[in-house]
Amino acid sequence: MSWDDWVRGAEIEPSLYAADFARLGEQIEQMLDAGVRVFHFDTGDGHFVPPVTIGPIVLESISKLVHDGGAIVDCHLMVEFPERHFEAFAKAGGDSVTVHYEACDDLPAVYAQARAQGLAVGLAFNPETSPEDAAAASEAADIVNCMSIHPGYSGQAFMPEAIPRIRRLRELIPPERHVQVDGGVGVENARELREAGVNLFVAGSSVFGADDPVAAYEALVAEIQ
Ligand code: DX5
Ligand code: ZN
Repeated sequence: MSWDDWVRGAEIEPSLYAADFARLGEQIEQMLDAGVRVFHFDTGDGHFVPPVTIGPIVLESISKLVHDGGAIVDCHLMVEFPERHFEAFAKAGGDSVTVHYEACDDLPAVYAQARAQGLAVGLAFNPETSPEDAAAASEAADIVNCMSIHPGYSGQAFMPEAIPRIRRLRELIPPERHVQVDGGVGVENARELREAGVNLFVAGSSVFGADDPVAAYEALVAEIQ
Protein backbone atom coordinates (compact mmCIF):
# COMPACT_ATOMS: atom_id res chain seq x y z
CA MET A 1 0.00 0.00 0.00
CA SER A 2 1.13 3.53 -0.66
CA TRP A 3 0.10 7.12 -0.16
CA ASP A 4 -1.73 7.01 -3.49
CA ASP A 5 -4.05 4.36 -2.01
CA TRP A 6 -4.53 6.21 1.26
CA VAL A 7 -5.31 9.71 0.03
CA ARG A 8 -8.74 10.70 -1.32
CA GLY A 9 -7.50 13.75 -3.16
CA ALA A 10 -6.79 15.66 0.02
CA GLU A 11 -6.80 14.55 3.66
CA ILE A 12 -7.01 16.20 7.05
CA GLU A 13 -4.65 14.30 9.34
CA PRO A 14 -5.55 14.75 13.02
CA SER A 15 -2.28 14.91 14.94
CA LEU A 16 -2.40 12.64 17.97
CA TYR A 17 0.17 14.85 19.68
CA ALA A 18 -2.73 17.13 20.61
CA ALA A 19 -5.05 14.32 21.79
CA ASP A 20 -5.97 13.58 25.38
CA PHE A 21 -3.76 10.56 26.09
CA ALA A 22 -6.02 9.36 28.87
CA ARG A 23 -8.74 8.91 26.21
CA LEU A 24 -6.61 8.12 23.19
CA GLY A 25 -8.48 5.05 21.93
CA GLU A 26 -11.85 6.71 22.37
CA GLN A 27 -10.69 9.81 20.49
CA ILE A 28 -9.30 7.71 17.64
CA GLU A 29 -12.60 5.82 17.38
CA GLN A 30 -14.51 9.10 17.19
CA MET A 31 -12.23 10.29 14.42
CA LEU A 32 -12.52 7.01 12.52
CA ASP A 33 -16.30 7.28 12.70
CA ALA A 34 -16.02 10.81 11.33
CA GLY A 35 -14.12 9.46 8.32
CA VAL A 36 -10.47 10.07 9.14
CA ARG A 37 -8.20 8.09 6.86
CA VAL A 38 -4.75 9.27 8.07
CA PHE A 39 -3.55 9.92 11.63
CA HIS A 40 -0.40 11.96 12.19
CA PHE A 41 1.95 10.67 14.91
CA ASP A 42 4.79 12.92 16.13
CA THR A 43 7.94 11.52 17.64
CA GLY A 44 10.41 13.99 19.14
CA ASP A 45 13.72 12.90 20.65
CA GLY A 46 14.67 15.81 22.89
CA HIS A 47 17.67 16.54 20.62
CA PHE A 48 16.50 17.43 17.13
CA VAL A 49 13.52 19.08 18.81
CA PRO A 50 13.39 20.06 22.48
CA PRO A 51 10.59 17.77 23.68
CA VAL A 52 10.50 14.02 24.04
CA THR A 53 7.06 13.04 22.75
CA ILE A 54 5.58 9.65 21.85
CA GLY A 55 7.16 6.67 20.13
CA PRO A 56 6.72 3.05 19.08
CA ILE A 57 5.25 1.86 22.39
CA VAL A 58 2.27 4.19 22.06
CA LEU A 59 2.09 3.45 18.34
CA GLU A 60 1.86 -0.27 19.01
CA SER A 61 -1.08 0.26 21.34
CA ILE A 62 -3.14 2.12 18.70
CA SER A 63 -2.12 0.79 15.29
CA LYS A 64 -4.53 -2.16 15.21
CA LEU A 65 -7.45 0.07 16.09
CA VAL A 66 -6.44 2.50 13.34
CA HIS A 67 -5.94 -0.21 10.71
CA ASP A 68 -9.16 -2.02 11.60
CA GLY A 69 -10.92 1.30 11.04
CA GLY A 70 -9.48 1.57 7.53
CA ALA A 71 -6.92 4.26 8.36
CA ILE A 72 -3.14 4.51 8.54
CA VAL A 73 -0.52 6.11 10.79
CA ASP A 74 1.79 8.74 9.30
CA CYS A 75 4.81 8.93 11.62
CA HIS A 76 6.70 12.23 11.71
CA LEU A 77 10.14 11.53 13.12
CA MET A 78 11.52 14.76 14.56
CA VAL A 79 14.65 12.91 15.57
CA GLU A 80 18.33 12.55 14.78
CA PHE A 81 19.33 9.22 13.21
CA PRO A 82 15.72 8.35 12.30
CA GLU A 83 16.88 5.20 10.52
CA ARG A 84 17.74 3.64 13.87
CA HIS A 85 14.03 3.51 14.65
CA PHE A 86 12.51 2.31 11.37
CA GLU A 87 12.35 -1.32 12.37
CA ALA A 88 10.61 -0.44 15.64
CA PHE A 89 8.09 1.80 13.85
CA ALA A 90 7.37 -0.88 11.25
CA LYS A 91 6.91 -3.56 13.92
CA ALA A 92 4.63 -1.26 15.93
CA GLY A 93 2.34 -0.85 12.91
CA GLY A 94 3.54 2.42 11.41
CA ASP A 95 2.70 2.88 7.73
CA SER A 96 4.89 5.80 6.69
CA VAL A 97 7.86 7.56 8.23
CA THR A 98 8.80 11.15 7.52
CA VAL A 99 12.36 12.19 8.26
CA HIS A 100 13.86 15.67 8.43
CA TYR A 101 16.10 17.17 5.79
CA GLU A 102 18.07 18.84 8.58
CA ALA A 103 18.63 15.57 10.46
CA CYS A 104 19.97 13.32 7.70
CA ASP A 105 23.33 13.32 5.92
CA ASP A 106 22.53 10.62 3.39
CA LEU A 107 18.85 10.83 2.49
CA PRO A 108 18.89 8.26 -0.34
CA ALA A 109 20.25 5.69 2.11
CA VAL A 110 17.68 6.67 4.73
CA TYR A 111 14.80 6.33 2.24
CA ALA A 112 16.09 2.91 1.19
CA GLN A 113 16.26 1.78 4.81
CA ALA A 114 12.65 2.85 5.37
CA ARG A 115 11.44 1.05 2.27
CA ALA A 116 13.35 -2.07 3.30
CA GLN A 117 11.07 -2.14 6.35
CA GLY A 118 7.98 -1.87 4.16
CA LEU A 119 7.37 1.75 5.12
CA ALA A 120 6.34 4.58 2.83
CA VAL A 121 8.59 7.59 3.26
CA GLY A 122 8.37 11.36 3.49
CA LEU A 123 10.76 14.29 3.78
CA ALA A 124 10.05 17.20 6.14
CA PHE A 125 11.83 20.52 6.03
CA ASN A 126 12.03 23.34 8.54
CA PRO A 127 11.32 27.05 7.97
CA GLU A 128 15.08 27.69 7.61
CA THR A 129 15.49 25.22 4.76
CA SER A 130 14.78 26.36 1.20
CA PRO A 131 12.07 24.69 -0.86
CA GLU A 132 14.72 24.23 -3.57
CA ASP A 133 16.95 22.16 -1.27
CA ALA A 134 14.01 20.15 0.02
CA ALA A 135 12.62 19.50 -3.45
CA ALA A 136 15.99 18.33 -4.74
CA ALA A 137 16.39 15.96 -1.81
CA SER A 138 12.86 14.55 -2.06
CA GLU A 139 13.23 12.65 -5.30
CA ALA A 140 12.70 9.20 -3.78
CA ALA A 141 10.11 10.35 -1.21
CA ASP A 142 6.33 9.92 -1.46
CA ILE A 143 5.41 13.07 0.44
CA VAL A 144 7.12 16.37 1.30
CA ASN A 145 6.18 18.07 4.57
CA CYS A 146 6.65 21.84 4.61
CA MET A 147 6.77 22.82 8.27
CA SER A 148 4.72 25.93 8.98
CA ILE A 149 6.10 26.17 12.54
CA HIS A 150 9.43 25.38 14.12
CA PRO A 151 8.92 21.69 14.88
CA GLY A 152 8.55 20.45 18.41
CA TYR A 153 5.28 21.50 19.93
CA SER A 154 1.62 21.44 19.05
CA GLY A 155 -0.40 24.64 19.39
CA GLN A 156 2.03 27.12 17.85
CA ALA A 157 0.98 29.95 15.52
CA PHE A 158 1.03 29.32 11.77
CA MET A 159 3.94 31.03 9.97
CA PRO A 160 2.36 32.75 6.91
CA GLU A 161 5.60 32.55 4.91
CA ALA A 162 4.81 28.86 4.55
CA ILE A 163 2.32 29.73 1.81
CA PRO A 164 4.83 31.05 -0.77
CA ARG A 165 7.23 28.28 0.26
CA ILE A 166 4.57 25.68 -0.51
CA ARG A 167 3.76 27.32 -3.86
CA ARG A 168 7.42 27.15 -4.75
CA LEU A 169 7.73 23.55 -3.59
CA ARG A 170 4.70 22.57 -5.65
CA GLU A 171 6.32 24.09 -8.75
CA LEU A 172 9.51 22.15 -8.17
CA ILE A 173 8.25 18.62 -7.53
CA PRO A 174 6.21 16.33 -9.77
CA PRO A 175 2.43 16.37 -9.33
CA GLU A 176 2.28 12.82 -8.00
CA ARG A 177 4.42 13.71 -4.96
CA HIS A 178 2.11 14.74 -2.13
CA VAL A 179 2.63 18.05 -0.32
CA GLN A 180 1.94 18.17 3.40
CA VAL A 181 1.72 21.16 5.72
CA ASP A 182 2.33 20.80 9.45
CA GLY A 183 1.83 23.42 12.14
CA GLY A 184 -0.87 25.91 12.99
CA VAL A 185 -3.32 24.62 10.37
CA GLY A 186 -6.96 25.56 10.92
CA VAL A 187 -10.11 26.69 9.11
CA GLU A 188 -8.61 30.17 8.76
CA ASN A 189 -5.78 29.00 6.46
CA ALA A 190 -6.70 25.57 5.07
CA ARG A 191 -8.31 26.84 1.88
CA GLU A 192 -5.40 29.09 0.99
CA LEU A 193 -3.02 26.21 1.68
CA ARG A 194 -5.08 23.95 -0.59
CA GLU A 195 -4.83 26.54 -3.34
CA ALA A 196 -1.08 26.77 -2.79
CA GLY A 197 -0.78 23.05 -3.50
CA VAL A 198 -1.17 21.19 -0.21
CA ASN A 199 -3.11 17.93 -0.18
CA LEU A 200 -2.12 16.58 3.27
CA PHE A 201 -3.09 18.82 6.18
CA VAL A 202 -1.79 18.00 9.64
CA ALA A 203 -4.13 19.42 12.26
CA GLY A 204 -3.42 18.98 15.97
CA SER A 205 -4.81 21.62 18.29
CA SER A 206 -7.41 22.83 15.77
CA VAL A 207 -9.03 19.37 15.99
CA PHE A 208 -8.29 17.95 19.45
CA GLY A 209 -8.23 21.34 21.15
CA ALA A 210 -11.76 22.06 19.94
CA ASP A 211 -14.82 21.50 22.14
CA ASP A 212 -16.12 19.15 19.45
CA PRO A 213 -13.20 17.48 17.61
CA VAL A 214 -15.51 15.75 15.13
CA ALA A 215 -17.14 19.04 14.15
CA ALA A 216 -13.69 20.65 13.90
CA TYR A 217 -12.49 17.85 11.60
CA GLU A 218 -15.60 18.17 9.44
CA ALA A 219 -15.18 21.95 9.19
CA LEU A 220 -11.60 21.46 7.99
CA VAL A 221 -12.66 18.83 5.44
CA ALA A 222 -15.22 21.29 4.07
CA GLU A 223 -12.48 23.90 3.55
CA ILE A 224 -10.27 21.66 1.41
CA GLN A 225 -12.85 20.26 -1.02
C1 DX5 B 1 4.89 19.61 16.02
C2 DX5 B 1 4.30 18.55 15.14
C3 DX5 B 1 2.95 18.82 14.64
C4 DX5 B 1 1.93 19.20 15.69
C5 DX5 B 1 1.00 20.16 15.02
O1 DX5 B 1 6.09 20.04 15.60
O2 DX5 B 1 5.12 18.23 14.04
O3 DX5 B 1 2.47 17.73 13.86
O4 DX5 B 1 1.20 18.13 16.21
O5 DX5 B 1 0.15 20.69 15.94
P1 DX5 B 1 -0.74 21.96 15.62
O6 DX5 B 1 -1.65 21.56 14.50
O7 DX5 B 1 -1.44 22.22 16.90
O8 DX5 B 1 0.18 23.06 15.23
ZN1 ZN C 1 4.18 16.61 12.78
